[in-house]
Amino acid sequence: MKTLFSARQLADFCQASDREIAFVPTMGALHEGHLELLRQAQSSGALTIVSVFVNPLQFNNPEDLDKYPRTLERDSELLTQVGADVLFVPSVGEMYPEAPAPSGVELGGLDTRWEGSFRPGHFEGVLQVLDRLFHMVSPKRVYFGQKDLQQCMVVRKLIEQKFSGIEMVTVPTVRAESGLALSSRNARLSPDGLLRAAEIHRQLKRVSQALAWDLALQDAEESLFNHGIETEYLAVVELPDMLSCPKAQTGHECAVVFAGYLEGVRLIDNLCF
Ligand code: PAF
Repeated sequence: MKTLFSARQLADFCQASDREIAFVPTMGALHEGHLELLRQAQSSGALTIVSVFVNPLQFNNPEDLDKYPRTLERDSELLTQVGADVLFVPSVGEMYPEAPAPSGVELGGLDTRWEGSFRPGHFEGVLQVLDRLFHMVSPKRVYFGQKDLQQCMVVRKLIEQKFSGIEMVTVPTVRAESGLALSSRNARLSPDGLLRAAEIHRQLKRVSQALAWDLALQDAEESLFNHGIETEYLAVVELPDMLSCPKAQTGHECAVVFAGYLEGVRLIDNLCF
């Protein structure tokens, strides 16, 4: 595996290869969920590039940015084991040589709901970094995890509006045996917290199977609270716009979406049905 640090090095490397590129953007602290994205990218036979860049623009909370785990050596080992072709690790100066102009992507209100309302500016930060990375990497296909469902909907808009040649692949959430969605943030939970966090998936499943969502959502929030989990939002939404969906409607793709705090760690999850 080659490790490259600048857009210049990356462009030279890609020019020397005539293979299509499959790209997995990450912020590092890699786990099995990221490795699954890489495996899917490899299955297309393309040259695989994984980026590791903790993007300051998408953190609305400076403390969250400080605490974000940085484990580059371990990440590099894991990517070598799975067989990535290139690890791209740009610096902040390389990504943002000057103050960024607005991305100009029309999100139709997606950025004002759920994650967007609790993390103002977050999706614009994601759009900024992906816009730059997609230009630098010129991928044929890009891979994103369904765990960040709203991010997937936002990236879809970026691709539709600015990168119509790129194909987006959404990969199902990888879960621990307990049902807990794998996340880099899980590393900050205590062993007891890890057990209690499994309640999130159990409750999402219950809501997705319920006939009366309002009641199921109330019960779920109470049960999460009893497990020490403070809900930020918990709702059934329609895809792809993620507008709240109060009643069961046949023929619509829906998801139950959650964000909340356990032991001071912000966790998100969802279940599509
Ligand atoms: O999902 C993530 O890890 C990040 O939001 C992404 C897509 C790598 C952009 O920084």
